[in-house]
Amino acid sequence: MLKNQINTKIYNIPRHIAIICDGNGRWARKKGLPRTLGHRAGTKPIEITIKECVELGVEVLTFYVFSSENWNRSNEEVAFLMKLFVEFFAKLRNEVGENIIVRHIGSEANLSKELLNEIKKTEKASENNSGLVLNIALNYGGRLEIVDAMQEIMHDINEGALNADKIDETLISNYMYTSGLPDVDLIIRTSGEKRISNFLLWQAAEAKLWFTNDLWPDFNHNHLIDAIKYYNKDATILYKKDSI
Ligand code: IPE
Ligand code: IPE
Ligand code: MG
Repeated sequence: MLKNQINTKIYNIPRHIAIICDGNGRWARKKGLPRTLGHRAGTKPIEITIKECVELGVEVLTFYVFSSENWNRSNEEVAFLMKLFVEFFAKLRNEVGENIIVRHIGSEANLSKELLNEIKKTEKASENNSGLVLNIALNYGGRLEIVDAMQEIMHDINEGALNADKIDETLISNYMYTSGLPDVDLIIRTSGEKRISNFLLWQAAEAKLWFTNDLWPDFNHNHLIDAIKYYNKDATILYKKDSI
């Protein structure tokens, strides 16, 4: 049990954890395997981390699984990933018993009908749940998200549904894909790269960043715990939450 390893009475659990799952290709190469097998291996720690975050009481968990820039990869790799995502969303439907709410964030452009259909089915099946919100950032780009939000805002102004004087930070947040959800508290990135890669640019304005050199398929509960401890590292920590 994860709760035996991190005392949630002492450590604050981030409300929103966002993870850049990086290093699948290198993991496979190190083992002499094709990159695709790295991607398949990378689905396991996603499933495990979802369960662990449910157990810890995290409210929102966001995984970055395919960026809007990732279309630049070889046709074979992209085709494999898209097939894997179809399987993955279908599998997530069976996790709905866990009370999680699954959402896709990102652009629908260029996604196949089959994948969009699978995504919609999973979103629909989970929309009335009340537990962890699981965002899958697939074909996601942070700048594109901001452009989309600006266009919608302009549209609503032109329609007379919105007054330009009303534009403030809260309003812009409400036009983002993550509307209604808390901002990101903690970003985790594996594989030693220390970049944001166009991820949740608006929502992560105040986020803490935690990096590990380990590759995504090797991610486990020890990493998650270390990241949460790091999140707790300064000022506000190490007081007994229930004693104040
Ligand atoms: C992350 O692993 C998964 C996706 C971007 C789909 P990579 O495929 O980026 O793995 P590396 O960085 O090449 O090792
Ligand atoms: C970032 O990984 C996006 C995902 C993990 C989905 P990349 O491996 O594509 O990132 P860059 O392009 O090296 O920053
Ligand atoms: Mg990478």
